[in-house]
Amino acid sequence: MPLPPICTTFEPYFLLSDEKLKDIVTHFKDEMLGGLGEYGKDVAMVPSFVTGVPDGTEEGTFLALDLGGTNLRVCEVRLFGHNKFEMKQQKYKVSDELKEGEARVLFDYIADSVDAFLTEIGSDISNNEPMHLGFTFSFPVEQTAIDAGKLLTWTKGFNARNAVGNDVVKLLQDAFDRKHIHVRCSAIVNDTVGTLLSRSYQSGPSLIGAIFGTGTNGAYIDKTRTIKKLGESKIKEAEAGGEHAGEFMVVNTEWGAFDNGRHCLPISIFDNKLDRESINPRKQAFEKMVSGMYIGEITRNIFLHLIDASVLFDGYSSKVLNTHYGYDASFVSGIEGAKSDEEVKKLIISQLGVESKLIEEDDIEIVKWGCRIVSDRACKLAACAIAAVVQHTGNDKVPEGEEDKGVEVGVDGSVAEFLPNFSERVSEGLASLLGKEGGKRIRMGLAKDGSGVGAALTALQAKKAMDRRS
Ligand code: GLC
Repeated sequence: MPLPPICTTFEPYFLLSDEKLKDIVTHFKDEMLGGLGEYGKDVAMVPSFVTGVPDGTEEGTFLALDLGGTNLRVCEVRLFGHNKFEMKQQKYKVSDELKEGEARVLFDYIADSVDAFLTEIGSDISNNEPMHLGFTFSFPVEQTAIDAGKLLTWTKGFNARNAVGNDVVKLLQDAFDRKHIHVRCSAIVNDTVGTLLSRSYQSGPSLIGAIFGTGTNGAYIDKTRTIKKLGESKIKEAEAGGEHAGEFMVVNTEWGAFDNGRHCLPISIFDNKLDRESINPRKQAFEKMVSGMYIGEITRNIFLHLIDASVLFDGYSSKVLNTHYGYDASFVSGIEGAKSDEEVKKLIISQLGVESKLIEEDDIEIVKWGCRIVSDRACKLAACAIAAVVQHTGNDKVPEGEEDKGVEVGVDGSVAEFLPNFSERVSEGLASLLGKEGGKRIRMGLAKDGSGVGAALTALQAKKAMDRRS
């Protein structure tokens, strides 16, 4: 079926040529360098102060908290060494009122959830000393130490008042102390850093940890020297400190904010509408094209446009289609994974609430096409981010005389997990960018539960450093 002519006016914003992808990677690398050199950049390139990467032998039991995905999670993680761990966890819902209310109320709720976890699920950690907790806080934080950092800005639908500019560890610790909860927040970690550590713990050294979930972001290992904005004395201190003292540090890129300045991303009218109506306009430009919070919404904007042009569903909409964020990326994943047109039709009826009699064969084709162009673009852009990090670190080449071990990338998040053929599609993008052989060297693997295990591993590193100091 030929697409209605109106579709061809915006299709180019979604079908990206290899040249376009290469151009995006060039800009990406520039912005990464900018963020390493100076504070205050969109792509913040946050030093994590994590200087050692686990090798799978680590042992101990820690609490972990995870805020920033769909739910708040409280976990107890037992690291057994031998790359093995066990986890008890409980999820707690974070309402929109909490996300957009007073920060103190949000942090009190978090502390109460930890308390409820300890009471209901129990913990194996001895009660004699404060329990060490690693806090996976998946927002941009300008870290000054492994257990200190100020929130730069909220992302992904959070907008709590009186948090930006404040030390997140202090906000949490104060809430524990107010409630006399015997827990010490000893490390703060981004989910991408957690994913990188968790992947390294479970399956050997990795270069990148990436999240393609509600939001998108990546962390990677760089030479501490490259983080020029730290200044010479902090660089020296970081190089000398830590158990695995050395020349490397994990950097949280905050690549979701790539191209907020709008120099190269293919921004269509649907992306502009999404951005204008979001709670953080002109921020997280890249994230708004790639991540799970937005993929469904872009398709919704496309479908509404086509309904208004009377080329879809005979010009009739539905309550779901008329609702801001009326459905999410799981609809797109469902359509992409559907085995037959009959299945697509059922999903349109059940998830979009469109009346059966309005759905013709052409409509089914248009819905499939809309979901495909939006998710293809997301996968290609995801490939750009990974390729930029690989090139930035020089890992696109094998040093002369060395064995080619390839590049390991740990990924987590709902898009990575549920979008059909996500890793194959990203790999295709990598092949366009790095060549067929170059693309093959990059191995992506799901590192589930990275937030929990990563937080525990970071808390362990922090505790060891603390023990050494005392
Ligand atoms: C957003 C956050 C970032 C996080 C990512 C994935 O981009 O700013 O810190 O890593 O979402 O959860």
